Order: sequence, then structure tokens, then C-alpha cells
Amino acid sequence: MALERTGIAAAILALAGCHQAPAAKPLTEAQSAARQPASAHLAALYDGSCRACHTNHDSGAPLSGDHTQWDARWAKGPDALLQNAIAGYNKMPAGGQCSTCTAADYKALIRFMADQPE
Ligand code: HEC
Repeated sequence: MALERTGIAAAILALAGCHQAPAAKPLTEAQSAARQPASAHLAALYDGSCRACHTNHDSGAPLSGDHTQWDARWAKGPDALLQNAIAGYNKMPAGGQCSTCTAADYKALIRFMADQPE
């Protein structure tokens, strides 16, 4: 049993990528909601669209800043995530309810929510 668990943990770490911090913990909604993009432009877009779902467990959206929910998605690559944000993905609405976001804005918002450095 313990061996099995170790194997699973190793597989998850391998999926997340070896450069990731191994001890990622889930964030609470409050911790997620306390995060804000540094740029005023991005913060306005984030507050007007992504934030409502991406700091709320019940929406089914990965919480902003939560590596346990974002790392596997980030592994798809920024272009795949951009594509899914624009086209929609399951309960993620096409465009994330942002009518003025450019592709560059989406990329930066996704990087912010996945908590990945520039
Ligand atoms: C109405 C709620 C809602 C809003 C608003 C919203 N999202 Fe989402 N988002 C979701 C949900 C739900 C998921 C999880 C979809 C799934 O994995 O089934 C998601 C997932 C994602 C994903 C991961 C897609 C993947 O391929 O794994 C990205 C990227 C994303 N959202 C970006 C954004 C951005 C950027 C914004 C703001 C411009 C935004 N979302 C606004 C609900 C929302």
C-alpha cells in the first residue's frame, strides 16, 4: 500500500514536471481571492471576468494560484490553454466572459492564474 502510494506520488510529480516545487498545497478560496495581477490593466480584466469563477470552488474552475489544480493544465502548454480559453472548455465559457481581452491578455491572465513566472 505504502509502496503503491509512493508510486502514484512519483507519477504525479513526473506529470507536473520536475522543475515544479514538489510540495504544492491546495489554496483556500480566500487565499486564491487575495491574489491580484500586478498590472492594473490585467487586474481590471481579471476582476471583470475570470475572478468570479476562478476563485470559487463551486464553479468547477481551477482556483487562481492553486498549483494542485493548475500544474497538469499548464503542462498542456500555453497555446493549448489559450485555445481552450478562447473557444471554451466544458463549463469554461468561450472567452471567459471577457469581451475586450486580446490573445496577449489571455496568455498573461492564464500565466497569472497558473502562477507561472514570465
Ligand atoms: C463562468 C465561469 C468562468 C469564467 C468567468 C472564467 N472561467 Fe476559466 N474555467 C471555468 C471552468 C468551470 C473551468 C474548468 C473547465 C474544465 O476543466 O472542465 C475553467 C478552466 C479554464 C482554463 C483551463 C482550460 C484547460 O485547458 O484546462 C483556462 C486557461 C481558463 N479557464 C481561463 C480563463 C480566463 C483567462 C478567464 C477570464 C478571462 C476565465 N477562464 C473566466 C470557468 C470560468
